[in-house]
Amino acid sequence: MRRKLAAGNWKMHGLAADLAEAEALAEAHPSPGCEVLLCPPATLVGRMSAALQRTPVVVGGQDCHAEESGAHTGDVSAAMLADAGASHVIVGHSERRTDHGETDAQVAAKAAAAHRAGLVAIICLGETEAERDGGETLDVVARQLAGALPAGATAENTVIAYEPVWAIGTGRTPTEAEIAEVHAALRAGLPEHMAAGTRLIYGGSVKPANAAAIFALPEVDGALVGGASLKAADFSAIVAALDAAAG
Ligand code: PGA
Repeated sequence: MRRKLAAGNWKMHGLAADLAEAEALAEAHPSPGCEVLLCPPATLVGRMSAALQRTPVVVGGQDCHAEESGAHTGDVSAAMLADAGASHVIVGHSERRTDHGETDAQVAAKAAAAHRAGLVAIICLGETEAERDGGETLDVVARQLAGALPAGATAENTVIAYEPVWAIGTGRTPTEAEIAEVHAALRAGLPEHMAAGTRLIYGGSVKPANAAAIFALPEVDGALVGGASLKAADFSAIVAALDAAAG
């Protein structure tokens, strides 16, 4: 069975004072049925990991370099994230692809680095609004999946996050049928050894108000949540909805 995953992406938000939100989340869910993950900025990974050590909430990074170490000023390696207490890392988020020009090949290299460091890679993909309007969504995500999935990926070390670019931070979401269509296509597009066990999560304007409907869809194994993961009360409601969907 695929364990449901509620993943929070704090993006470039969070100072030491905000660790209280992570602690409040953990207190609200002492024994969640789903896996609960928070991905704070790199500066907080170590402190958040320490603060949540005796709780079931796990911590991840938002990006990693493809190499383990080297002359790459400002970058953080997967090994460093693991050393700081992370168990997961997001790679290929659309903001990385847009702001830093990351390609599918680079995302695959980052995911491979995550795997070498023992981290679960959450590989993000999704179409732009123009691509959806052009009827290209399924082609785009199939191409991204094929290009960003590294050799060595398994159902255990990889999660795929479908995040339509136009739904991120906009308050807009695809219809339930559209989400279900893409998730079904992604599952069908996974290599055979990953097809049954790989978790496919949805991201893009997931809120307490729409979480239950999204989690009821076939092939949706959880969510990657940005804005609504910053406050414990909001993210807690999403975690509760996922737990309820898991039964
Ligand atoms: P959002 O972000 O929930 O704020 O739309 C999702 C994401 O970018 O992962």
